[in-house]
Amino acid sequence: MKIHPIELVVNGEVIKANVEPRMHLGDFVRRELGLTGTHLSCEHGVCGACTLLVDGVPQRSCITFAASCSGARITTVEGYGDDAVMAALRKAFHEHHALQCGYCTPGMLCTARDIVLRLPGPDAKRVRFELAGNLCRCTGYVGIVEAIEDVLGQKAGGALAMPVAQAAAAVAAAASVTDGTWTPIEIPADGDWIEVKQSLTLPLDAGAAWKRLEDLPLVANCLPGAQITRHEGARAEGVMHIKFGPITAAFAMRAELALDGAARQGHMQAEGVDKRSATRVKTLLDYTVTALDARQSKVDLTLRFRLAGPLAQFSRAGLVNDYVAELTRLFGVNLAKAATGSSAAVTQAAGGPSIFRLLMARLRKKFRG
Ligand code: FES
Ligand code: FES
Repeated sequence: MKIHPIELVVNGEVIKANVEPRMHLGDFVRRELGLTGTHLSCEHGVCGACTLLVDGVPQRSCITFAASCSGARITTVEGYGDDAVMAALRKAFHEHHALQCGYCTPGMLCTARDIVLRLPGPDAKRVRFELAGNLCRCTGYVGIVEAIEDVLGQKAGGALAMPVAQAAAAVAAAASVTDGTWTPIEIPADGDWIEVKQSLTLPLDAGAAWKRLEDLPLVANCLPGAQITRHEGARAEGVMHIKFGPITAAFAMRAELALDGAARQGHMQAEGVDKRSATRVKTLLDYTVTALDARQSKVDLTLRFRLAGPLAQFSRAGLVNDYVAELTRLFGVNLAKAATGSSAAVTQAAGGPSIFRLLMARLRKKFRG
């Protein structure tokens, strides 16, 4: 088996090691470094028990390969030292009885700290939403939510020393896709593509609808979570923010648009990488505008995508498919708003659809069927 030499900083200490390609970060910190505060439970990226920080951003260590973390800064629950936010959270968890068995607590604290640092003033509903990917079987979450709200209150009152927002720096780094030169995107047609189709009717004649849909930034900006950072003719670069519960990914994307004006067909191909999870995505978007009558037109969208890397495991459970189907639906809604010049704001919820709502829909379907 091929062994990878890695060098990373764990809790402030430089670590050099040789790892097997499939060793995940959770096993690495526990077995190789003896940092057993990071707990493993599902080992499928679902429960959140193994959450730790990679370059300041919460990451599930059970679906992160240790080999992909060479050069990264890892912080486990043992490594927060005098971090004021973590100290306040530990105290608040104790005071609000936010733990019983404590198995979920290291991951829960990591996510809680991220909520306090990242969000300006979330209410209890938003805090619960943000915790959707950290499972606790003991507490019923009431104490956990109260503890986080307590620390959010301290932050609002200016009583907490906030560390530098490392997450913002990480996203900014992800936004830099190339060194300024455009290279062609090559996407092989073979392989397992997941396909989602969507149709929508626009209150515009086909010519007017097509004119709007020739506009690459307009089309790209309709995708919830997408942010264009560079655009030149038929090419664009940007960041696609994805959020599965507390799992966040920022895919640095490149896209190219090819248009057939006579047939009113557009073909966009894009590829991207989320450096943090080492997950790659390739997408193909085809759209065709056809006239329904003199005042209405129909847009048929076909989105195909393929994931490779740790986050691809979610496609096995169908969750990614549901997510992309919902993303495509919102894209259609936004496209209709943008194409008609609607004054209604384009839905640009950061990270796209609610994974919690999708999970509930999936559960409802399962119990009905
Ligand atoms: S152990 Fe459950 S998400 Fe990693
Ligand atoms: S305190 Fe037991 S699982 Fe959360």
